[in-house]
Amino acid sequence: MTYLDWAATAPPQAPLADDFQLGNPSSAHACGQRQRRALDAAVADIGAACGWPAAEIVATGGATEADHLVLYSPLAHLRDSRAAFRRGIVHSAVEHAAVTEPARQLARMGFPVQMAPVGADGLLDLERFAPCLDDATRLVAIVAVNNETGAIQPLAQAAEIVRGHARRIGRRIHLHTDAVQALCRGLEVPVTAADSAAASAHKLGGPVGVGALWLRGNATLEVLPRGGGQQDGRRPGTENVAGMRAFARQAATLATAAAGHLRRAARLCERLIDGARRLRLEVVPRHRVERPDCYSPYIVCLAARGIPAEVLVRVLSDQEVYVSRGSACASGGQKTSPVLQAMGVPAPVAGGAFRVSTGWSTTEADVDRLLDCLERTLPRLRAVA
Ligand SMILES: Cc1ncc(COP(=O)(O)O)c(C=O)c1O
Repeated sequence: MTYLDWAATAPPQAPLADDFQLGNPSSAHACGQRQRRALDAAVADIGAACGWPAAEIVATGGATEADHLVLYSPLAHLRDSRAAFRRGIVHSAVEHAAVTEPARQLARMGFPVQMAPVGADGLLDLERFAPCLDDATRLVAIVAVNNETGAIQPLAQAAEIVRGHARRIGRRIHLHTDAVQALCRGLEVPVTAADSAAASAHKLGGPVGVGALWLRGNATLEVLPRGGGQQDGRRPGTENVAGMRAFARQAATLATAAAGHLRRAARLCERLIDGARRLRLEVVPRHRVERPDCYSPYIVCLAARGIPAEVLVRVLSDQEVYVSRGSACASGGQKTSPVLQAMGVPAPVAGGAFRVSTGWSTTEADVDRLLDCLERTLPRLRAVA
């Protein structure tokens, strides 16, 4: 089997029996306090791996929840309803659905929501980003690394624009980044230029349904959910101690080996792109061939013009080669990827776009196997396209 869909989920690493222990970390007795210490240690390790102070980390049930805590925060201000509805949101046109869907819902409720365009290279267009910010803007979301194209967004420059604008209007603007595809991979992404960031454990080989929100200490973000008051009210609900321990172990392991993994991923990426071009596949965006530094080598979007990606993904799957059609979360329903649409990718190319994503155990043989299968499969599919 050749698994090349790491951006959807990485091969799960088995939890340790020691992860599962009795006790609620909010209980005052010894079982609870043991769990509290285990959770605190896990959070500290995640912080060390991601570059965040432990006190600023909130344990969540995945990255989607981490994004939602931030995106839905304007609703927490609804007690002062007229002011609440003036809280503007700006997000890039290449966000994950975990950001775009809450934003869409807030727009339907009446919040001002603006989408900042990207160029054909899939990168935030900084010149057109600045005018998206106005007097109402209170929340900005920019994904750190796009999960479909691997585009590394210019987060530091965007943060500078946001800070400058906040100073000019005399208001705080919260900058959030979905850092799921950026963390613990050795990539140079200045995640802490933002005020908060979302992380997901299963993208690193940890358990599904476990994640973290880094929330800068002085960020005045009020979250909507209410409950038991855990985590200083930043996220109600009993913490998943076993999940966070497994997450921490993976984050620490990967962060230590990240530089080596990144070098290997870059070599595999080059091999894949060279092979794909020989097979007349399109590299999306083509800009990554000239500017590889702007893209994560772990994620490559290729396209077989005119061949529906769902067909190609199925044919490869029949040969036990697993790639995906864009974002795994969207591949169920949507016809065209909003991300590729925002980049202006022509429909016959976008329709044939598929994502190849690699990780720590991907080998040259895996890439070659994919290329071999494509070489055998493409002529047949092109003949009937
Ligand atoms: C960029 C990005 N954000 C958010 C998510 C959702 O993460 P989770 O499955 O932990 O909710 C994903 C998963 O595909 C992703 O790639």
